[in-house]
Amino acid sequence: MRVTVIGTGYVGAVHAACMADLGHQVLGVDIDPARIAELAAGRPPFYEPGLSELLKRALDTGRLRFTNSLAEAGRFGDTHFLCVGTPQRPGSDAADLTYVDAAVDGLAPHLSPDALVVGKSTVPVGTADRLARRLHADVAWNPEFLREGCAVEDTLCPERIVVGVRSVWAEARMRTLYAPLLAAGAPFIATDPPTAELVKLASNSFLATKISFINAMAEICDAAGADVLTLAEAMGRDPRIGPRFLAPGLGFGGSCLPKDIRALTARAEELGQAPAVAFLRQVDEINTRQRARTLGLAEEALGGSFADRNVAVLGAAFKPLSDDVRDSPALAVADAVRRAGAHVRVHDPEAIDNARSARPALQFALDVAKACEQADVVLHLTEWPQYRELDPAALKAVVRVPVMVDARNALDPEAWQEAGWTLRAPGRPGLSERSGTPCVSW
Ligand SMILES: NC(=O)c1ccc[n+]([C@@H]2O[C@H](COP(=O)([O-])OP(=O)(O)OC[C@H]3O[C@@H](n4cnc5c(N)ncnc54)[C@H](O)[C@@H]3O)[C@@H](O)[C@H]2O)c1
Repeated sequence: MRVTVIGTGYVGAVHAACMADLGHQVLGVDIDPARIAELAAGRPPFYEPGLSELLKRALDTGRLRFTNSLAEAGRFGDTHFLCVGTPQRPGSDAADLTYVDAAVDGLAPHLSPDALVVGKSTVPVGTADRLARRLHADVAWNPEFLREGCAVEDTLCPERIVVGVRSVWAEARMRTLYAPLLAAGAPFIATDPPTAELVKLASNSFLATKISFINAMAEICDAAGADVLTLAEAMGRDPRIGPRFLAPGLGFGGSCLPKDIRALTARAEELGQAPAVAFLRQVDEINTRQRARTLGLAEEALGGSFADRNVAVLGAAFKPLSDDVRDSPALAVADAVRRAGAHVRVHDPEAIDNARSARPALQFALDVAKACEQADVVLHLTEWPQYRELDPAALKAVVRVPVMVDARNALDPEAWQEAGWTLRAPGRPGLSERSGTPCVSW
């Protein structure tokens, strides 16, 4: 089949390459000429494991091309996936649909009579119906559930494919498009567009709630002398609860969860249903509070002041295996530490370029040892697998004071304490009692 993918960012670039991999003829469209040039040359404009190989393979088959012309897109195919951004609207909690509307308006004059526009962007409930009236064409919604860091696998082996359709032929077309995935056993849920739109926002709101729930428990653990990791493990053994997303720490960020819970709140208010999701405001507050709590742990470890202290930060991306720094909790904490008067040096395996553009006042180091040189405290803020593999003894030799704030609760406390480090972590007050050396040693 001949499909276009409009918007070739984190979602669209992966979707375009995967659709070509499934055997379709694909045209990727973006308004950013630099992005199009990079993709056409086989270079993903961001870090995503496996994408580079997949992109090159798809380009080599001749089934994948890129353009910046929506007119060409209209002529090229009959199924058009919308993958443009839907960020938070400035000065509001609601989603900004400017990019969606612009893409649709640009495409409208070029659509063929049998065109199907398929939204993948995360949008407020009611968007597909509104766009269908604007376009005078059939519109379906097929929310995207990929996770940055395993986006290719999530797309080629999805846990579910949800399509919100307004006609039988639209559902048939979606089944044909995804036929190889359906044949491999991917669950296919066909529903109406409002339900499909809501599945995405409801799922992200649930995940955010689960994270904030365990972080709220971490706050209680800190006050009560209990251990949140043991608590989470014991809770997670209940199959009704499950262990995933019960990881206490610095909380969520990125371009999805924070803006999605706010967008659902704003839309519920428009629908007169504000009380139904009032708890999401608390989920948001609990999450933001973890950044301040991490700052507090670091300040305490430094004896009460950041002024002129050397602080090493491990991690800048909003999550491991990604170079995405949009609303990154790690960068927010790093910058707050800098503003409090410390000398901050940030390391990240992949996100330094993006982090430097987002926070030019911060200093960056290309290797962990350089970031940690003469550090008075090290903050572990993004749980990259390689940070778990660090040698605590070797790192102790380069820091000034061996104090680690493990804001992600991801390091092995025993290994670090045996090597002479003092560890601090949210929800684990007992760690400091077991520490070998006093926290502040000057
Ligand atoms: N990033 C994720 O992990 C993820 C996961 C699931 C869903 N989503 C949702 O998918 C959507 C896209 O997210 P993203 O992270 O890929 O965004 P992104 O910002 O990385 O990419 C958006 C792309 O759209 C392009 N664009 C903007 N206007 C355009 C237009 N009129 N015509 C053509 N291209 C245009 C931009 O230049 C950019 O390259 C959002 O709604 C997001 O909430 C994202």
